[in-house]
Amino acid sequence: MAADLTPMDRPAGHSIPLRNTPERYGIVAQALHWLIAALVAVQFVLGVKAHGLPLGLERLILLARHKSLGLTLFALVMLRLAWRMYSPPPPWSSQAPLRTAARLSHGLLYALLLAMPIAGWLLSSASNLTVSWFGLFSLPDLVAPDRRLAHWLLLTHQTMAWLLLAVVVIHTGAAFWHHRILKDNVLTRMLPFTRRARRSGRPP
Ligand code: HEM
Ligand code: HEM
Repeated sequence: MAADLTPMDRPAGHSIPLRNTPERYGIVAQALHWLIAALVAVQFVLGVKAHGLPLGLERLILLARHKSLGLTLFALVMLRLAWRMYSPPPPWSSQAPLRTAARLSHGLLYALLLAMPIAGWLLSSASNLTVSWFGLFSLPDLVAPDRRLAHWLLLTHQTMAWLLLAVVVIHTGAAFWHHRILKDNVLTRMLPFTRRARRSGRPP
């Protein structure tokens, strides 16, 4: 539990603890958060670029990277959820409506981060495209080739992508709103380079 601190949570010097503490996210949760955020951005660039290209080698190469990175992302999100169970996030101390909004948006982010790769894998199978992980091994097809299903799955994958983008924009806006307007520690506790966390935003 995050509450019973061990030396692993409080290493010497000013370095960030491995596990989450009641005050801040630990280095593992932070690293996974920012790595996943960066990969999502790359996924958008690759997906949109591939979608705009005519059928051909360049499109296939971009799509192969998109699929491999998408599977990596799926594994990292699973790892992140497992780590979250082992080391629960720092508690929220803002008012109930903000807590509920944060819980809902984080839940939606996790749901989309897991659903998108599955929809992508289904889409590839229905489009008769092999899914391999950086050419090292191939994954089995989840469904038989089917043009109608592929069309429907592409729409699903696209809709989820734009929904994910919208939630990420709101999420980022909310982080800066906490930092600039509420002046609490919500953003700084997810940042590696802030030594001292701000006040916890506890309601008066
Ligand atoms: C979180 C992970 C992912 C994100 C954010 C993402 C995002 C996107 C985006 C933005 C597009 C372009 C849609 C458009 O331009 O309208 C796209 C297309 C696509 N994605 Fe993903 N994707 C992810 C994971 C995956 C995975 C794991 C696979 C397959 C295993 C996959 C397969 C595809 C395919 C086949 C296309 C269609 C490209 C085309 O032919 O037009 N995606 N994705
Ligand atoms: C694709 C981009 C992003 C995704 C998918 C994402 C996802 C998430 C998720 C799922 C959480 C919940 C962590 C947990 O408690 O388990 C979280 C927390 C957080 N994210 Fe992001 N995030 C993204 C980008 C950003 C950006 C750009 C910022 C700010 C500039 C940001 C700031 C934060 C902060 C401050 C928290 C901690 C909130 C708290 O303490 O309650 N995120 N993010």
